[in-house]
Amino acid sequence: MSFVPDLLKGKRAIVTGGATGIGSHIVRKLGQLGANVGIISRRQESLQTAVKSFAADDNLEVHYQVGDVRKETVIQAAVASLADKMGGLDIMVCNAAGNFICPTENLSANGWRTVIDIDLNGTFHSCKAALPYLKEATDGGRIISISTSQANTGWPTAAHAGAAKAGIQNLMQSLAVEWGPYGIRANWITPGPIEGTEGVERLITAQGRTDEVLEKIPLGHFGNGEDIANAVVYLASTTGRYVSGTELAVDGAARWGRI
Ligand code: HXC
Repeated sequence: MSFVPDLLKGKRAIVTGGATGIGSHIVRKLGQLGANVGIISRRQESLQTAVKSFAADDNLEVHYQVGDVRKETVIQAAVASLADKMGGLDIMVCNAAGNFICPTENLSANGWRTVIDIDLNGTFHSCKAALPYLKEATDGGRIISISTSQANTGWPTAAHAGAAKAGIQNLMQSLAVEWGPYGIRANWITPGPIEGTEGVERLITAQGRTDEVLEKIPLGHFGNGEDIANAVVYLASTTGRYVSGTELAVDGAARWGRI
């Protein structure tokens, strides 16, 4: 499946957590369609490896900054530096996330806080840091957060992540209203299980749940990174100009199968 070449030519995008997993698919797709892309991640090594592979595989020059989304001032500086390098910012993809399986009765306060801090507070910091640049975006700024189907149903054994992602969805609705007058659209994508990601490896495969989960996905298979990247393109380009404050589920109807 392909979009019109150069659909995103002239656009500038930042993807948090863009070095690996779903984030790296989003980066490739935005870059392939002509956007200038910057990524932020905690680990310098992952960033350097990713940037090399974007260049080798797709001939993309992707900018990067080391930064932990939990740290407000660090993220402010990282976003500012990337936006300055790219000459502005049109698309902010809040993708960085942390998660682990733990029954809630065994979950420590620090374990709970850590995931809320990465997922929910990290998204807040990223949006705040992007705001001054998105206000100046050529055709209206876009904020696209990566959530998860379980944000809408509860997430037994990952209650911290479910609550954080539900918070992100609510934040997007508030920003859509508050920042709509600046031309900014704020939406979220709820991926179902996406093959090849650390999330699926650790949360499904390593738990021996692959067959059980596949049976509950009405389309009968996991998604892939490109499915999510295509949804980001829809929301980020002119096709999504009148869409704000809403969810785009890309999950093979997994939410109704309640995985
Ligand atoms: C119980 C755990 C734990 C585990 C960490 N903790 N892992 N508790 N079971 N498996 C507790 C620790 O004991 C500690 O609490 C607290 O959490 C903080 O742990 P740290 O290791 O110090 O935190 P940190 O180094 O900052 O690491 C953050 C992390 C880690 C979230 C815990 O897993 C991480 O960095 N993950 C990033 C990558 C990632 O998770 N990717 C997948 C995202 S996928 P105490 O009380 O001991 O101090 C996703 C969607 C998947 O989000 C969808 C699939 C369907």
